[in-house]
Amino acid sequence: MADFAKLSIEGQTYTLPIIEGTAGQKAIDIRNLLKETGYITLDSGYMNTGSCISNITYLDGAKGILDYRGYAIEDLADNCFFIEVAYLILNGELPNFDQLEQFKRDMRRFALIHEDMIHFFDHFPPNASPMSILSTMVGTLHNFYPEMDEEDDPYGGLTVATARLLSKIRTIAAFSYKKSIGHPLVYPNAKLNYVQNFLNMMFDRPNIPYIIKPEVASALNKLLILHADHEQNCSTSTVRLVGSAGGNLYASISAGVNALWGPLHGGANQAVVEMLELIYADDRDFDKYIRKAKDKNDPFRLSGFGHRVYKTFDPRAKIIKEACDHVLRALEVEDPLLDIARELEERVSNDDYFISRNLYPNVDFYSGIIYRAIGIPTNMFTVMFALGRIPGWIAQWNEMKQDQDQKIGRPRQVYTGYTRRKFIPMHQRA
Ligand code: ACO
Repeated sequence: MADFAKLSIEGQTYTLPIIEGTAGQKAIDIRNLLKETGYITLDSGYMNTGSCISNITYLDGAKGILDYRGYAIEDLADNCFFIEVAYLILNGELPNFDQLEQFKRDMRRFALIHEDMIHFFDHFPPNASPMSILSTMVGTLHNFYPEMDEEDDPYGGLTVATARLLSKIRTIAAFSYKKSIGHPLVYPNAKLNYVQNFLNMMFDRPNIPYIIKPEVASALNKLLILHADHEQNCSTSTVRLVGSAGGNLYASISAGVNALWGPLHGGANQAVVEMLELIYADDRDFDKYIRKAKDKNDPFRLSGFGHRVYKTFDPRAKIIKEACDHVLRALEVEDPLLDIARELEERVSNDDYFISRNLYPNVDFYSGIIYRAIGIPTNMFTVMFALGRIPGWIAQWNEMKQDQDQKIGRPRQVYTGYTRRKFIPMHQRA
């Protein structure tokens, strides 16, 4: 590999250092470019811009590889509890038995939210989006637990703030659902594990106890693991950007929740199910929707297809597709949307438009069908994504904070407006 790149501008040659990652990714270091050349780079959508050096998550979009801290997600999804993977992502190493037990105790200890926060839920309008509620409640955690920013880490690498946020997020998510349907809140139960506790808070009702089926808990556990981190995507970059200005953990993660909400990002899981419903209701007119997706004058896109980084099958989608078959069979659920999804995938995989653009199913394509099967309402799908992504957001935020070279995130621009012109007093304006 070359040690440096050469850039020739206006007859002058500059050398730019090359950095190589542990898996062979190569980057031209342009950090001194402006100072040395007077030029900036233009890269809208950050298609080619590395914003940080990170050792949390590795993905190879051409090969369809995704690893957390060096471990393949396939292994983690098959063998771990979500909380174990969260520990790995946050801490860098898989927990041993004692560490995991301590972490579980933390999850139990921090599961409640301040009672005064519960009043907040009463004042959202009835149809408020669960994502807006989530981001509000996460942001306001700072008001109730301000000491979190400063508190030292008693558990070897993990701050109390981390444990609190990871534990409370599921209570917030479940409470927002209960409030939205007018049911009494179900408080966390210390006898249940992380995923079971969430399911119980969501679905248990007075006089109608919720029986937690192992298949349901296992499917949700897998989904959360598969969403736990995904390097510098839109929401994670938002978390880092807000944190780079000195914003506290909760403010940064609340911003990440809002970034995730969009239908091109985490909001796609809801959009997929709505699209499948549309195709189903429209007499399975696949051709119509495929035609619309290909039409440049139509804003419609096939949700759940395509990815900025993956140019092959998203490895998460592969696992989720299998899990989807498994959970529907185990629960004896027949969902016509699964057939629609399968047929749409089949048609797309044989269509030149999608083949030539490397548009394959992404993480959001089959996840909504699992959420439906386990009873999660459609408008909560993106909240489920956020729940899974919390460890990644926190780990990336922590990594950014610890980076000695970290500066406030502040891109440049190429200005194309008026250059300085003479001010026109009111009486002279046309
Ligand atoms: N349906 C139809 N055409 C598509 C789709 C799609 N889902 N995705 C991309 N294309 C087309 C684009 O129109 C473009 O065509 P062109 O080259 O003729 O102009 C080409 O494929 C490349 O697409 P871009 O939008 O330039 O790719 P980009 O990397 O910017 O976007 C994105 C990636 C946003 C995920 C896009 O594929 C998309 O909108 N997908 C649907 C939404 C979705 O599923 N989002 C979830 C992504 S995973 C996640 O964030 C968790």
